[in-house]
Amino acid sequence: HLMSISDLSSTEFTKLVLNASTHKSAIKTAIAAGQTPKTLNSSLAGQSVALLFSKRSTRTRVSTEAAVALMGGHPMFLGKDDIQLGVNESLRDTSTIISSMTSCMVARVGAHSEITGLAEHSSVPVINALSEDFHPLQTIADFQTIHEALPERTATATSLGLEGLKVAWVGDCNNVFIDLATACVKMGIDITIASPTGYGIPDRLRPIILSSPGPDPVPGKLLETTIPEEAVKDADIIVTDTWISMGQEAEAKIRLKAFAGYQVTNELAKRGGAKPDWKFLHCLPRHQEEVNDEVFYGPRSLVFQEGENRLWAALATLEAFVINKGKIVEM
Ligand code: CP
Ligand code: NVA
Repeated sequence: HLMSISDLSSTEFTKLVLNASTHKSAIKTAIAAGQTPKTLNSSLAGQSVALLFSKRSTRTRVSTEAAVALMGGHPMFLGKDDIQLGVNESLRDTSTIISSMTSCMVARVGAHSEITGLAEHSSVPVINALSEDFHPLQTIADFQTIHEALPERTATATSLGLEGLKVAWVGDCNNVFIDLATACVKMGIDITIASPTGYGIPDRLRPIILSSPGPDPVPGKLLETTIPEEAVKDADIIVTDTWISMGQEAEAKIRLKAFAGYQVTNELAKRGGAKPDWKFLHCLPRHQEEVNDEVFYGPRSLVFQEGENRLWAALATLEAFVINKGKIVEM
């Protein structure tokens, strides 16, 4: 199962990211040459992957459906109003039944216990497509994007060569941040989060971010502040996400007030002293309040490449967990 980035060693994470990049260039090159892309030998032919979504999604739904199709399998989208789960049937019964008929469950849930509950009773791999605590598929795509944006950093089989980079997260400590921070620490990247008091890292999740398996590379540092300028100092990459995650809509007014002053802008980066060639990431969907148009649509922004990379990250992850049964091998 893939519940969060903390399930992966630095070597496994590196392989997933490199495999995502390899598939991207091979398939795009084939398409550009007018050839039918080699679809991983139709390795999911005759198999179905259940996509259980209890929350809205554009990127995760489209990327996982498209990835299953590229592999010759049948993606079976099951929205919250399509199945009995949550209304009329328990997680245990749903998981037992769906896993008896499919090769994998990809699930977007509310509480993280819902995805671990599905995994506990499943006879097939379960992949977290976002829970309240984690979003591993997003982090794989984010690292693929960073890897592609910094070709001078040479990857090896066990490391993406990103050691020493500085990432700044300005905004809410949410599911996307927790897995991103876990990967940064694992890969030797320093990450600083600036969030208002009360919206920082919950104590129960800090040990997960810091639990970096493998002695190599030297873990990155995790730093926490309430001051956005402090976070962006010397940053190579600035990242943010919505201030109001799905399920927090009732808190919108209070959150907008709490996060005033945390919008990512060129002025903030300049004031705080970000590196001159800093880049911007955002998982999307995006709102004006957390990042202005100048940055979001500007030359530093990698957001649409990051969005596309969700497809290649999904492909590499399904390949590793469904076809290779959790053994992450370099392609
Ligand atoms: N980034 C992301 O997970 O987007 P969706 O909610 O549209 O899937
Ligand atoms: N933090 C956001 C991410 C959406 C992709 C949410 O959970 O709604």
